[in-house]
Amino acid sequence: IVFNDYRTVDHGGTMKRALITGVTGQDGSYLTELLLSKGYEVHGIKRRSSLFNTERIDHVYNDPHEGGRFFLHYGDLTDSLNVTEIIQKVKPDEIYNLAAQSHVAVSFVQPEYTANVDAMGTLRILESVRLLGLQDKVKIYQASTSELFGKAVEFPQSENTPFYPRSPYGVAKLFAYWITINYREAYGMFACNGILFNHESSRRGETFVTRKITRGVTRILFGLDKKIYLGNLNAKRDFGHAQDYVKGMYLILQQPRPDDYVLATGITTEIREFIALAFDEVGLTVKFQGEGIKECGIVISYHEDVLLSRLQSVHCAPEHKENILQTARACLNKVVVGIDQRYFRPSEVDILIGDPTKAREKLGWEPQHTVKDIVSDMIISDLEKNYREYVLKTRGFTMSRSCGI
Ligand code: NAP
Ligand code: GDD
Repeated sequence: IVFNDYRTVDHGGTMKRALITGVTGQDGSYLTELLLSKGYEVHGIKRRSSLFNTERIDHVYNDPHEGGRFFLHYGDLTDSLNVTEIIQKVKPDEIYNLAAQSHVAVSFVQPEYTANVDAMGTLRILESVRLLGLQDKVKIYQASTSELFGKAVEFPQSENTPFYPRSPYGVAKLFAYWITINYREAYGMFACNGILFNHESSRRGETFVTRKITRGVTRILFGLDKKIYLGNLNAKRDFGHAQDYVKGMYLILQQPRPDDYVLATGITTEIREFIALAFDEVGLTVKFQGEGIKECGIVISYHEDVLLSRLQSVHCAPEHKENILQTARACLNKVVVGIDQRYFRPSEVDILIGDPTKAREKLGWEPQHTVKDIVSDMIISDLEKNYREYVLKTRGFTMSRSCGI
């Protein structure tokens, strides 16, 4: 991937140019795919890292010498000069500000950094656009969040529901939400908030609860792990699929007037239920027993036909099949989910459920995936990934354990 490449494609003014912050993240990668498929020239901002960290976007990269329309720039939302320089050189038609310290639990540990990126970072983008005199040319999408509703005061939550954030992340995003509206009102900028409820996918970061669960389930199946340790299983979230949500982001910037929209499914799911669905996908039925930190999830039945069809879909080699089935059978009556106090948050958002009526009516946006589709998509992908690890292990390679938390 070529970095800091300010070449642009000569498109005679007909092709739109987008700048995506947070391009290496879950949403950034799907949005890049979407905009490239619509003929955009896409520029992404990527933080310097000691590793490549481009695996979510490597598949969409084409050498610019061969007509590629995807460019990357080193940048960081904490560095205003760098943000301004990129915007000045790229001169985008649309900016999608997706970059954030996006982990709620981590925001309690790094509140100042979270505020710097999530709150001030948004201001840096808006102010750069204004200082560069681009306020009439550039449309801006701000990645706002259902975490703004926090300790929600009404159900379901819509664009009119008052906010009550419950974490440094939520509070930082509250500043970003209002500064976006302020720049719209003060300078007439086309700046919009998408208030998105949780959206997941096989590209979700491994420390968010859904991915932690699907990854954990598949690792237990291959004998790579024994148990998944989690925090508050009572929390409920309105889960959608990231692929549906990036379509909503795009639609928000194609409207005649700037506005703010909730994107949600209108259905909420308890974490406990998500866990049960994930184990179901591989033929294991889990029942929960006990309370508080003593609660655990136990496998109470096993359906080999389900597991066999899953293994088929990941092209499991015949010589591995019996071993994997044996590991799965051995899970019967075993505790596969435990509670660890360290995953509880100092203040929690108990339940979120969104009302996407405005997005449906004004944008024509409808989520296409159910929670079951999402679980299925994530389980298949994690089965593939962890099967690869299993094969390497059976061939005698030493696998390092991830120390991610
Ligand atoms: P994600 O996977 O965590 O991606 C976050 C992106 O931001 C990554 O590319 C990350 O880069 C980048 N980033 C972090 N700090 C940065 C900095 N200082 N400067 C520049 N880039 C930085 O998050 P996501 O799930 O795609 O979410 C995208 C956005 O939507 C975030 O703003 C998030 O808060 C918001 N949001 C997400 C959801 C959801 O359910 N997914 C719901 C509502 C709102 P690295 O790859 O280098 O870490
Ligand atoms: N991460 C995590 N890890 N969460 C756990 C765990 C665990 O081991 N056990 C229980 N949970 C609970 C959390 O306490 C929370 O109530 C819920 O699962 C979801 O947690 P996350 O997956 O970390 O997501 P989030 O809802 O806090 O935040 C995500 O969604 C927001 C939109 O509402 C992130 O993507 C945010 O960036 C986004 O704004």
